[in-house]
Amino acid sequence: MKKLLIVDDELGTRESLRMIFDREYDIITAATGEEALGIIEGLRPSLVLLDIIMPGMDGLAVLERINEIDKDIIVIMITATKTVKTAVHAMKLGAYDYITKPFDLDEIRLIIKKALSTQDLRNEVKILRAEIDKGYSFGNIVGNTGIMREIFDTIKQIADSKTTVLIEGESGTGKELVAKAIHFNSNRKGKPFIAINCAGIPESLIESELFGHEKGAFTNAYGRKLGRFEMADSGTLFLDEISELSLATQAKILRFLQERELVRVGGTETINVDVRLIAATNRNLEDSVTNGTFREDLYYRIKVVPIHLPPLRERKEDIPLLVNHFLSKIMKEKEAKAKSISSEALDLLIEYNWPGNIRELENIIARITLLSKNSRVFPEDLPSNIRGNAKLNLIKEAVLEGKLSFEKAEAEFERDIILNTLEKTNYVQSRAAELLGISRRILKYKMDKLGIEGTAG
Ligand SMILES: Nc1ncnc2c1ncn2[C@@H]1O[C@H](COP(=O)(O)OP(=O)(O)OP(=O)(O)O)[C@@H](O)[C@H]1O
Ligand SMILES: [Mg+2]
Repeated sequence: MKKLLIVDDELGTRESLRMIFDREYDIITAATGEEALGIIEGLRPSLVLLDIIMPGMDGLAVLERINEIDKDIIVIMITATKTVKTAVHAMKLGAYDYITKPFDLDEIRLIIKKALSTQDLRNEVKILRAEIDKGYSFGNIVGNTGIMREIFDTIKQIADSKTTVLIEGESGTGKELVAKAIHFNSNRKGKPFIAINCAGIPESLIESELFGHEKGAFTNAYGRKLGRFEMADSGTLFLDEISELSLATQAKILRFLQERELVRVGGTETINVDVRLIAATNRNLEDSVTNGTFREDLYYRIKVVPIHLPPLRERKEDIPLLVNHFLSKIMKEKEAKAKSISSEALDLLIEYNWPGNIRELENIIARITLLSKNSRVFPEDLPSNIRGNAKLNLIKEAVLEGKLSFEKAEAEFERDIILNTLEKTNYVQSRAAELLGISRRILKYKMDKLGIEGTAG
C-alpha cells in the first residue's frame, strides 16, 4: 500500500481522513509541520495532505521543505475556503492540488487517485530515461551509480595490460561478470577464458587441476593432463574464491607470478605460459592475511589492481535498471510477452536489503515473471520476505493465535524498525538515533538487547 501522510493540527480532520482512507492507503498522521518533516525524512510517503494554517511552521513552509527533501512526493494542500488564494500560491510553489474544507469525499478520493497515477507515470518515465542514458551498462554489467561507472572505467583502463586483478565483493555482486568483462575487452579476447572455483576442488586434487600432471605422478594419473594455467595460455585464468587455497598451493601460484613458468605435478620440465590472472574473493583477504590463512606476499602480488564490488544495498539507485534489464532478459530467453513492474512493487524491491545481491534479484525476477499471470508485476507477486508488511502481519496473527507472546512481538517490531533505520543511515548510529527520535545511548542499549550488530551484514 502506498503511504499517505496527513498533516493537520485538528485531530478531527486527521482522524476522519484516516478513517476514510485506511483501507486503501497506509495512513500516517502528524499534528505539526515539524513532526511532518521528521516523518517525511524517514518514511518517504508517496503523498502528503497538508493543512495550510497551523500553529508553528505553516503549510507553505513545510511544502518548501518537502520540495527540498524529495520532489517526487506529491503534496495536496488542505484549506478552509477563506484561504483559497494561499492554496493557489501553494500550487505555484509546487503543490499538486488543493482540497477545501468541509470535504467532498468523492472529490478528494479522485484527486488522490489521479495524483498517484501521475506519480506512477513519472516513475516509469524516469526508468526509461535511465535506460536510455548511455552510461548505464558495460557489456552485460548494468549500473549507473558513480561507483559502477568508476568500475567500468577501471575495466577499460586495465583490460589490455597483463596486470593481475583482485576482485572483491560479497556473493552475487558480479565478480565473475567483471572478470569476463576484463577478458572480453582485452586483446586476449579471442583466446581462452578459463575459470576455476578454488573452493570446489578437494585439496588433494587442486594442484594437478591448476598445474597439470605427468603420467604416473600419482595413483590414477594414467596419462598426462594439462592444468588450467596451461589451458589458459595466452588468455585469462580466473581463480574464483582464491582465499580457499591452502598455503602450499598459494606458494606455487606466487612462484608462477614471479617466474611466469610452472612445473606439472610429477614432472621436471619447466613450462612457460602467458596467462593473465584474475582472482576473486568474497572474503576480506586482508583479514585472511592477518589470520595467517593467506600469504602476505601473494596478497600484495595479486592486489595490484583491486576492484571492490559494492553490495546491492549500497547502490539501490541501480535497482530499477537491473529490474528492467532482468525482466527483458528473461522474457527474451523464454520468448514470452513483455512484462512491466508496477511502481508499488518496484518500491518494495528498492526497500529490501538484498543479502544475496544481484543474483538474488535476478532469481526473484525470474520467478515472478514465470509465476505471475498478469502483464504487470504487483506487490502480491513478490515473495513475502520482500513484501515486508506481510511479515508484520504474520507476527500480528501469531500473537492473536496465542503462538507468540506480546512481548516477543514488540521486540520483533522494534528490531525491524531499528534494522531498517540503520540500513537507511548506513549504520551511522547517531543518524539512526536522530531519525528514530531517541538518544544514541538508548539506541545502543536496544541494539544490544535485541542482538543487533553495529555493522551491516
Ligand atoms: N551489474 C550487473 N548487471 C547485470 N547482471 C549482473 C550484474 N552483477 C551481477 N549480475 C548477474 O548476477 C549473477 C551473479 O553474478 P556473478 O556470478 O558474477 O557474481 P559473483 O560475485 O561471482 O558471485 P559468487 O561470489 O556467489 O560467485 C549473474 O547471473 C550475473 O550475470
Ligand atoms: Mg562467482
